[in-house]
Amino acid sequence: MSPTGLFITLEGGEGSGKSTQIRRLAGFLEKQGHAVIVTREPGGTPEAEKIRNLLVQRDGGDWTPLTECLLLFAARVMHVETLIKPALAAGKIVISDRFTDSTRAYQSYGHGVDRDVIEKLNTLTLGDFKPDVTFILDVEVEEGLARAGKRLARDESSEDKYELLGPSFHQRLRDGYLAIAAREPGRCHVVNANGTLDEVTDAIEHIMAEVVKAHAV
Ligand SMILES: Nc1ncnc2c1ncn2[C@@H]1O[C@H](COP(=O)(O)OP(=O)(O)OP(=O)(O)O)[C@@H](O)[C@H]1O
Ligand SMILES: [Mg+2]
Repeated sequence: MSPTGLFITLEGGEGSGKSTQIRRLAGFLEKQGHAVIVTREPGGTPEAEKIRNLLVQRDGGDWTPLTECLLLFAARVMHVETLIKPALAAGKIVISDRFTDSTRAYQSYGHGVDRDVIEKLNTLTLGDFKPDVTFILDVEVEEGLARAGKRLARDESSEDKYELLGPSFHQRLRDGYLAIAAREPGRCHVVNANGTLDEVTDAIEHIMAEVVKAHAV
């Protein structure tokens, strides 16, 4: 557990509802009087956002899965040292849209990088720093991709590299996330994200209320 603040991450495949639910969760916690910082990965600082563009833009480059891992951890260590840890030390709640579990899911379960390599990079760059609480939004692959497609059409974003990968990649991601959650049941809460936005919000808020009590923040 972080010494003072609380570090929360939301994880899940494309279109599982992370960004939408983070906005709602931040509002829920702010209403209770908490100071909340919302951030995202890859990115979260100006330098790390530059690395994000290399990784998620359609024309960002044709990185191998291992070089993607190195870029992701380079961005992550910057994010943790300059934004997340100082905010936690100031007693804030930090909510990140993705974190190391995304590297585990996408680069290892999705693209086949050895799990042990990712854990070594994690330890090398972050030591034993990790989220206090992680929500894994679990949605049917088809439903998630359909939602992500609608969001992309609306945003006119070119951050669509992963949406363009086939359904078998996304099924490996989903299975990977469930395996990650099974290995760390104390930290990871799997939330059924197939329901309506309000149903998913209710499930997250229910767990969050317990977590806030347990961490005494
Ligand atoms: N439970 C839900 N039911 C219906 N639509 C949803 C639900 N959750 C999210 N959406 C819609 O699906 C789209 C994708 O949601 P959102 O951007 O929150 O997902 P995300 O997990 O952040 O996706 P990405 O990984 O692509 O960033 C949005 O248009 C959002 O309004
Ligand atoms: Mg999002």
